[in-house]
Amino acid sequence: MLDHTEAKRRLEEMRQQYPEKFAPLERIFGKIHRGARIFIGTACGEPQFLSSSLVEYVSSNPKAFFDAEVFHVWSLGIAPYADDRFRHNFRHNSFFIGQTTREAINRGAADYTPLFLSQVPDMFFRRRVPIDVALIQTSPPDRHGYMSLGISVDIVKAAAEMAGIVVAQVNKRMPRTLGDGFIHIRDVDYIVPHDEELLEFLPERDNEAIQKMAQNVARLVEDGATIQVGYGATPNAIIANLREKHHLGVHTELISDGIVELMKLGVIDNSKKTINRGKAVATFCMGHTDTYEFLHDNPAVEFRTIDYTNDPLIIAQHENMVAINAALEIDLTGQATAESIGHVFFSGVGGQADFMRGAVLAKNGRTILALPSTAKNGSVSRVVPFLKEGAGVTLVRGDIHYVVTEYGIAYLHGKNIRERAMELISIAHPNFRPQLIEEAKKHNLIYQDQAFIAGKRGEYPAELERTCLTCKDVECFFRPVNIDDEGLLKDFFYSLSDNSLYRRFISSRKDMPHERLQEFVVIDYTREMVILATEKSDGKETVIAVGQYGINPGAHTAEVSFAVRDAYHNKGIGSALLEYLTYLAQRQGLLGFTAEVLVENKPMLHVFEKAFPDLDRHVSDGVYELRMKFRTVK
Ligand SMILES: CC(C)(COP(=O)(O)OP(=O)(O)OC[C@H]1O[C@@H](n2cnc3c(N)ncnc32)[C@H](O)[C@@H]1OP(=O)(O)O)[C@@H](O)C(=O)NCCC(=O)NCCS
Repeated sequence: MLDHTEAKRRLEEMRQQYPEKFAPLERIFGKIHRGARIFIGTACGEPQFLSSSLVEYVSSNPKAFFDAEVFHVWSLGIAPYADDRFRHNFRHNSFFIGQTTREAINRGAADYTPLFLSQVPDMFFRRRVPIDVALIQTSPPDRHGYMSLGISVDIVKAAAEMAGIVVAQVNKRMPRTLGDGFIHIRDVDYIVPHDEELLEFLPERDNEAIQKMAQNVARLVEDGATIQVGYGATPNAIIANLREKHHLGVHTELISDGIVELMKLGVIDNSKKTINRGKAVATFCMGHTDTYEFLHDNPAVEFRTIDYTNDPLIIAQHENMVAINAALEIDLTGQATAESIGHVFFSGVGGQADFMRGAVLAKNGRTILALPSTAKNGSVSRVVPFLKEGAGVTLVRGDIHYVVTEYGIAYLHGKNIRERAMELISIAHPNFRPQLIEEAKKHNLIYQDQAFIAGKRGEYPAELERTCLTCKDVECFFRPVNIDDEGLLKDFFYSLSDNSLYRRFISSRKDMPHERLQEFVVIDYTREMVILATEKSDGKETVIAVGQYGINPGAHTAEVSFAVRDAYHNKGIGSALLEYLTYLAQRQGLLGFTAEVLVENKPMLHVFEKAFPDLDRHVSDGVYELRMKFRTVK
């Protein structure tokens, strides 16, 4: 920030040069006419002194102006414009709803204008939303007479360009940020020097569910990606989980403490960005004073107007763009609201849709909707059959690639309604899954006979996921089967050669309809286990092998079987799967495996013999019946 004497000296120079701009507040406010549209700077950049002076002025001159409309993109509520006592003076109109305006808007005492934030400046320029007065806050002027809008450039610049009267509170604590946010003293009508601490924004605390969800999101962010992250407890936890990444870039609406932290750590270096390389680009900042200090005169951060940062066509130019946003509710068809809870207006369209649409268009772009599976202390599911009546659809079914909760990751893009519903049910909170299955059946979103195992027994054991190296140095990802894997398994079984299918099932049956497939994917994890070996390419997962066991009724052993894609035979995958299943079965206290293997199936027999040299065998009708005992673990 500018040193105190330097700031004072510059202002003195300006006072000499433009004495008419340094008028008393009474005179300035006296120029505001009835019905005027007054714009007030955004969030932490709000000119607090001007805001409270305006309210004081109206309190002592109640008839001074009536029906003024106060515009904000986001207010932290330092001035009570929406108070009943000012109802004849002010009507609050907000492009985004914060905690302090929510009540007044829902009571009908203030207005909300839903608009993509990228388009607000154009509304000002075309005078569809005319601005008469702009109350803004700036840094002290530089030696050329330019002042910086600092931490709030967003729509403030456009408002200042279009307003008939521009009043700037010049505050030496406002950082001079680089980019688009400069305004020349010539273009300001009145200067009100007043130093005060900028508003700070402290996000809510997170919890265990948010932490787990954030870890899941971090798995989807690759080194070199350019990220946009929304605001609140969820995005903050996500940012904190990106510390192990490398060469991330930032093109975002809001720059937060977390992003600055990652810049200081060198995780965000913007070195791989397709455009604006080397610079983090944002339009406003909400955070701690330390963060504001970091932004002062910092060429690594560029503040641009919101019609640039949020323009989907600019966002789309970033290769590997990852837009990460939170929502209040998502329905089983994949439409989400971040704006309202039923009829209650909660936040706003904001920049979320701008960023998600831009990222969908970007080369190798990803959109991630991150939300804890429940709200209100676990009493309400955020995954719902259909959005509640009255909800504003912020993201439509085509906008979302990934949905992430603390229970995992659902991939929706390009999936049909049945697949989406199953994916989303699999990451909903287990307490709500039976209900979601029922509702989904009722509305024909999923198969009428869709199997489902409620409670712990049917819960996906994510802790069993692991990467392993086979004896032939092939890296495999092993994970338990999940309720939404039917499509993947269908592709897998139909990819097998007739010979492999025959060897696997010892039957000439070749079809794999839904009824048969769901026996593989909907399992009681305490009685059986199906482990998939999968491979990912271009974000698409493919099953390359399946190993499974089911506990033999009346015995303390389990029947085991395998299938590996033909092209992957003899790479050690079958053996590695057997080793992992043996570990899992032993952990469950089982004593051994049984298996039926065709006498001609030499590879399978070899795999079993290698692992259990003293296995027991009987032949009957060309099939070996094998018994394998686990070695006692000491
Ligand atoms: C049986 C099957 C699961 C093995 O999977 P895989 O990933 O190829 O297994 P691995 O690579 O771990 O091991 C295969 C072993 O068989 C050996 N083998 C291959 N063909 C063989 C043959 N004709 N005779 C003897 N051994 C043979 C390989 O050399 C290898 O042994 P090694 O590790 O000592 O070199 C796979 O072949 C398959 O999916 N077959 C079709 C389905 C099936 O038969 N399922 C079994 C039902 S229980």
